[in-house]
Amino acid sequence: MITVTTNNSAKNTAKNSAEAGGDVRLCGISKTYGSFTAVRPLDLTVPQGSFFALLGASGCGKTTTLRMIAGLEEPSSGTVFLGDQDVTNLPPYRRPVNTVFQSYALFPHLDIFENVAFGLRRRGIKSVKKQVGEMLDLVQLGEQARKKPHQLSGGQQQRVAVARALINTPKVLLLDEPLGALDLKLRRQMQLELKRIQTEVGITFIHVTHDQEEAMTMADTVAVMNGGRVEQLGAPADLYENPQTTFVANFLGTSNLIEAEVDARSGDEIVLRAGGGKLVLPEARCSAPTTTGGKVLVGVRPEKISLTHADEAGEIPAGRNRITGTIADSSFIGVSTQYVIDSPVCPEFEVYAQNIDRDPRLVPGAEVVLHWNPAHTFGLDAAQDIDAGIETVEEEGAAA
Ligand SMILES: Nc1ncnc2c1ncn2[C@@H]1O[C@H](COP(=O)(O)OP(=O)(O)O)[C@@H](O)[C@H]1O
Ligand SMILES: [Mg+2]
Repeated sequence: MITVTTNNSAKNTAKNSAEAGGDVRLCGISKTYGSFTAVRPLDLTVPQGSFFALLGASGCGKTTTLRMIAGLEEPSSGTVFLGDQDVTNLPPYRRPVNTVFQSYALFPHLDIFENVAFGLRRRGIKSVKKQVGEMLDLVQLGEQARKKPHQLSGGQQQRVAVARALINTPKVLLLDEPLGALDLKLRRQMQLELKRIQTEVGITFIHVTHDQEEAMTMADTVAVMNGGRVEQLGAPADLYENPQTTFVANFLGTSNLIEAEVDARSGDEIVLRAGGGKLVLPEARCSAPTTTGGKVLVGVRPEKISLTHADEAGEIPAGRNRITGTIADSSFIGVSTQYVIDSPVCPEFEVYAQNIDRDPRLVPGAEVVLHWNPAHTFGLDAAQDIDAGIETVEEEGAAA
């Protein structure tokens, strides 16, 4: 139960500490282990008070980056700033930063109250009751104060870990795959819960995850990492709608990528040739060079595409991008049906159709026309690996 007073008080404590601080700034920080580069020179600013996610596959350098911010790892080059303060040479305990790991590492012999009180008691603070009570209310565990960690669920234990970190009023809370040990349903609940806690306290959260849905659900800003570099940084919707690289296009959701050739320009649109047909791409949505005859990867998300049986192709409005193909596979998943289309321009084109009125003729073997609004098309540099960022089942298992 949260009363207005405790709520405000927790908020104010956090606010005061945040106001004295500022952005987290990484200037050219890198980390090498012998001849192996785990993090390439990285410039990154995390605005004060934001919920920031570092997203990438296992091994891309997320934890190393986080540990350099915490002071648990010494950068091979570069500087870490907290506000105006250069903290690069400060030991972890002198930095206004706390970390929550996947393993909650609670003290098993202490009850929840004492676990949360730990940081205060260590600093010699005797009267802890009010502050611990506020923190427990913040993470909605006020009723569980006298239980031992093993009597709580995984999600509750992780909330204790968050409360235990926040009671130290850090300027920045670092979270390294904190929900990794939880099952899917609990993960979803905890994502919303952590988001609520962050909004309430206003402290900067830097959250590391390999789960793209998790990053998009929670963060204001997501930095997509690949091979020790940040590939792209932005608001979730911006990253999703305007990927700049094939890695981001494939890693964040699913993209259909078509190899095409620049044919002409008309106004602020580029006309491309792909498999005998023409496709139109707004120039502003193309991150590739567009000299005539040059190659561009044309991308479109599966949910932007409509599917029409070839017999009705005449009814498709003019001005839409269209390609033809044959349905290779369809899976009904309730809210939508996911089709895989064999097309001369793209071997496994994916289309997600919302289940409103289902055309019973749209079954494997049917000839179809795929069509979409050209405004939903994006263009990428064709010099990249078209399959970058596509996770195989094996890789996914390793990352989990
Ligand atoms: N102490 C270390 N010595 C050598 N290599 C390491 C060390 N720590 C991490 N690495 C390597 O650095 C890369 C990045 O690791 P990490 O930051 O843990 O990735 P992530 O958290 O994204 O999974 C990995 O290839 C990992 O094997
Ligand atoms: Mg890691």
